[in-house]
Amino acid sequence: MKKILQPQDWGLQVAPDGELMVGDHAAVALAKEYGTPLHVLNEILLKETAKNFRQCVESLYPGKTSVHYAYKCNSVPAVLQMIRSSGLKAEVMSSFELKLALHTGHKGEEIVVNGPCKTDDFLRECLENQVRLIVVDSLDELKALNEICVTEDKEVDILFRVNPDYTPRGMNQGSATGSRKGCAFGLDLKGDEVRAGFTLLQEMKRIHFLGFHFHIGTGIRDPIDYSKALRCLAPLLKLTHAAGFVVKIVDVGGGFAAMTTRELTSRELLIYQGFERLPSSLGKDTDITFKDFAREISNTISRYFPRNDLPELMYEPGRGIVSSSQFLLLTVHRVKNRPGLRKWLITDGGLGTVTLPTFYEYHEVFLCNDVTRPRTEKVNIIGPVCFATDVVYRNKLMPQVNPNEVLAIMDSGAYFTALESSFGFARPAIVAVNNQGHRLIRRSETFEDTVSRDLLNRSAKTKEV
Ligand SMILES: Cc1ncc(COP(=O)(O)O)c(C=O)c1O
Repeated sequence: MKKILQPQDWGLQVAPDGELMVGDHAAVALAKEYGTPLHVLNEILLKETAKNFRQCVESLYPGKTSVHYAYKCNSVPAVLQMIRSSGLKAEVMSSFELKLALHTGHKGEEIVVNGPCKTDDFLRECLENQVRLIVVDSLDELKALNEICVTEDKEVDILFRVNPDYTPRGMNQGSATGSRKGCAFGLDLKGDEVRAGFTLLQEMKRIHFLGFHFHIGTGIRDPIDYSKALRCLAPLLKLTHAAGFVVKIVDVGGGFAAMTTRELTSRELLIYQGFERLPSSLGKDTDITFKDFAREISNTISRYFPRNDLPELMYEPGRGIVSSSQFLLLTVHRVKNRPGLRKWLITDGGLGTVTLPTFYEYHEVFLCNDVTRPRTEKVNIIGPVCFATDVVYRNKLMPQVNPNEVLAIMDSGAYFTALESSFGFARPAIVAVNNQGHRLIRRSETFEDTVSRDLLNRSAKTKEV
């Protein structure tokens, strides 16, 4: 059965007159008070989701576990603090994110480092801060890390990121990070790079191999995809044993879907971008929970290792933690009708500035003024940039919307603020709502902010002779 989403699916309420409410606060009133675009963060839901993820993982695996939140997904400092307060550690991919993790209060030992382009300077910074693990993405990186350890007289624990050459069914190819043809990530198991890595490690006394890392994509809705990808543990364990190493950690990465939004499949994306046919709903109803993912993964790992010698099981969720706890308010400033064509709702945010993920993901859109107004027409919802692709959605089934009414783009917690830009407009504020009330956790960008890095009237450096 197709799932028709309601505000209650995000823990929100509907007032008797149909207004969208976050606890005691009307979304329209928040839009008026703070201006739009405005992200609204449901702080209670975020903390509950993070804690629930950690507890599912801990309760379903008989060995040690740790959950490292993927900073790239939403790196707003107040959000990071809330996630840390729920007992999650950090996964970072750059010097910027490492500094953020330390700034958020994480110690080096709570930080796992990923990424395909860790520069030598970044690797040095990771060593200086004694991060828990560096996940090695290539043989070149392994050699560079070893040289740095030798010259700096340092030691480090590592995992090998492995490319299992597995793509979850229906996944948008752009997100398939476990495919050897589709992306550069990880050591190529089929191309024998893992064996080559072990050969290099034999001579590297300062680098300590602790296990394997996988990250097969994002928005995964079926737990079976993890167990299928993890089948490569069988050849990997043989290789490890033959090389005389031991697996003490298995890191299964992130990718856990938020069930209130989804990526379009490759086919849907082509049809939508080519012919403007947007899926009319989220799709099939699903009641998959974190527990189902944690159970499937725990059972799979337990099949490959003896019970008294289980590895530590690590997770790196991003989207599953933050997506559903935030939504984006946009004001419809103008409505344009062209005879014989679809109506245009002209808003103050589109994918050119604040909704980039709506290019490739299905998100629910509510009319905050009256959620109960029947959906009677298909419209184009667009942004403010003079750029034809500055669209939120083309062909979206909506109620009749009037100028000055407010839309909520649901699930703006994952990869929205990370991918936003200041293309002609200021980046939006974020307001957090909890039991006590609401407060700004990020103000909107000012003109001074946007020009603060520009350097005018500086004389050019001359070449020294
Ligand atoms: C290595 C790694 N871990 C974790 C994540 C988080 O993925 P998600 O937000 O889908 O959970 C990503 C996302 O790109 C990643 O690259």
